[in-house]
Amino acid sequence: MAEAPFGLLAELTHRCPLQCGYCSNPVELVRRDAELSTEDWLRVFDQARALGALQIHLSGGEPLLRPDLPELVAHANSLGCYVNLVTSGVGLSRDRLRDLASRGVDHVQLSLQDATRAGNDRIAGIKAFDRKVQAASFVREEGLPLTVNTVLHRQNLDNIAGLIAMAEEMGAERLELANTQYYGWALRNRAVLLPTRAQLAHAGPVVAAAQDRLRGRMEIVYVIADYHEAHPKPCMYGWGARQLTVAPNGDVLPCPAATVISSLRIENVREASLHDIWYSSPSFNAFRGFDWMQDPCRSCPRKEVDFGGCRCQAFQLTGDAAATDPVCSLSPDRSTVDLILATEMAPAEVPAMAMRKMR
Ligand code: SF4
Ligand code: FES
Repeated sequence: MAEAPFGLLAELTHRCPLQCGYCSNPVELVRRDAELSTEDWLRVFDQARALGALQIHLSGGEPLLRPDLPELVAHANSLGCYVNLVTSGVGLSRDRLRDLASRGVDHVQLSLQDATRAGNDRIAGIKAFDRKVQAASFVREEGLPLTVNTVLHRQNLDNIAGLIAMAEEMGAERLELANTQYYGWALRNRAVLLPTRAQLAHAGPVVAAAQDRLRGRMEIVYVIADYHEAHPKPCMYGWGARQLTVAPNGDVLPCPAATVISSLRIENVREASLHDIWYSSPSFNAFRGFDWMQDPCRSCPRKEVDFGGCRCQAFQLTGDAAATDPVCSLSPDRSTVDLILATEMAPAEVPAMAMRKMR
């Protein structure tokens, strides 16, 4: 029997003012008229809390684009949940944040695309840097804890020291430096985004030195560039183990990228309860535990550490979601990743970034 989830990632909308090419949301975004209603979300929050979830992450897209956000925050707070607002900062005025804080936002996670105005706005596709800096100052004024989140890739990895300095300047308690994961839209831009070995070799020690220097003041979490590693990441700490995601249209996902696994039948909150989906659905039970594994994972001692890696990546690169994650050096498909690195990591002619725009 699965344990209860810790948290709910509520993707309130896919609409977003930014156009980042590294976006891991699906290629086909949920349109506004297919989004869950306010009543639907209130019911989802009730069900998540009843299931045991204590954290609600309000995310997107940009959650500030939902006019019912204050009501949703207040309801999540009334259930006793820790409420995290995950935002680009665009649209976060001082008054708006003050109102959201008074209704129960406990924490703000702010995205930052690069350390400089020019770099940030080029990657975001709009002028957003100044608004992010301002949003961070509003968060500080409200006395809320702040996490800065930067997705790393070939276009910004050389500025890692500047990114750390920027997060310090913004007063963040926590900085997440996460190398791009190639799902959804990001997969299209892999040849523009894959970092080089030289960039990673430079970034690693810079991050480690900053982690030492800032210990006790700002926590720095560094998510590896797994294509370059010998072992995969422990994706989601196991499938359907800790958190569930509800997409803007009500699809309930064992991991935020799970729609890439086209063989998976996804349940929806309009048709079933979160309780039934979490405990009994084929999608959530597909890769729980170890029985689904094939060799080499099945007989590998590291399976308790990395759970065989990422199911979405296994499906995308091999067509079999139960395969060993091909980034693993023990995978029979590791040559697929090596070929990608050889051909896409630093191509002679770098293609242009396909910016993310909602049609
Ligand atoms: Fe992890 Fe499977 Fe590779 Fe072992 S064989 S290290 S369990 S991915
Ligand atoms: Fe879906 Fe890793 S992103 S299991």
